[in-house]
Amino acid sequence: MKKMDIKETFDNEAKEYDFTSRAVNIYFDEALEQLVKNIKTNDKNIAILDVCCGTGILTEKVAKSFPNANFTGVDFSTGMVDVAKARMKNYDCKFFISDLLDDKKMAKLSGDFDLIVSSFGIHNIHGMSEKQRALKNVMQHLKTGGQYITCDILKGINKKEIEHFYNFQKQWLLKTYSAEATQNWLDLLAEEDDPVALKDNFDLLENAGLKDLKLYWKKEFLAIWSGTKK
Ligand SMILES: C[S@@+](CC[C@H](N)C(=O)[O-])C[C@H]1O[C@@H](n2cnc3c(N)ncnc32)[C@H](O)[C@@H]1O
Repeated sequence: MKKMDIKETFDNEAKEYDFTSRAVNIYFDEALEQLVKNIKTNDKNIAILDVCCGTGILTEKVAKSFPNANFTGVDFSTGMVDVAKARMKNYDCKFFISDLLDDKKMAKLSGDFDLIVSSFGIHNIHGMSEKQRALKNVMQHLKTGGQYITCDILKGINKKEIEHFYNFQKQWLLKTYSAEATQNWLDLLAEEDDPVALKDNFDLLENAGLKDLKLYWKKEFLAIWSGTKK
C-alpha cells in the first residue's frame, strides 16, 4: 500500500479510531500504560513530542502523568489530528501536520524535546530505508540525553512465529468482529503494516543516533523499547 493511501485510510478511520484501536491492536491500553510507566525522567516541566500521535490517545495518557509539560503531536493525517486537538484542549499542546518522510518540513518542526514518545506508528512506514529516514527526521529534535520510548508491533523472526502472530491477531479480532469482518481486517493490515523484528528496530535507532537501547515489555508481537540520544 502506498504512503498516500495510508494517510487516507487514517483520515477515513479517524472518527472510529478510538474504538477500532482497541478492537484491532492487541493489548492496546495495557501497552500504552506500560510505556508511560517506563518514562525515565522525573522532571515535570519538559517538552514532549508524540510521533504519529494519531487521535492523541497516548499524548493524553502521558499528559496525565506530566500535566505541566508542553506537548507537540506530529502526524500526517489531519482527520486523526482533529480528534487529538479536541482531546488535548485542556493541555499545553500543539500539532504539526507532516509526513515524517518530508525532510524539509520535518526540519522545521520547532522545539528541542526532552522526551519523544510514539505508539503504533513507525510500522506504518514501509521499507527499512524509509523508516530510517523518518527516525532521523524525528531524532534531530531530541535533546542529548533525552529518551525516545515507543510501543509498536514486531515481525516474527521465523515462519513459525509469523504464523503464530497471524493466528493471535485473528483470535483477537474475532473477539469483536464476525469471521468476514475479521478477514477484511487481516487483509487490510497485511497491506497497511510493515513491522520489522526487534533487532532491526534497534539498528534503526542506533543509526538515528540513539544508545542504551533496551526492551522493557513484550507480549506476543507487541513490545516497548527505548533509547537515549547520544
Ligand atoms: C495506528 S495509528 C497510531 C496512533 C496513535 N499513536 C495511537 O497509538 O493510537 C498510526 C498513525 O501514524 C500516522 N502515520 C503513519 N505514517 C506516517 C508518516 N509517514 N508520517 C506521519 N504520520 C504517519 C497515521 O496517520 C496514524 O495517525
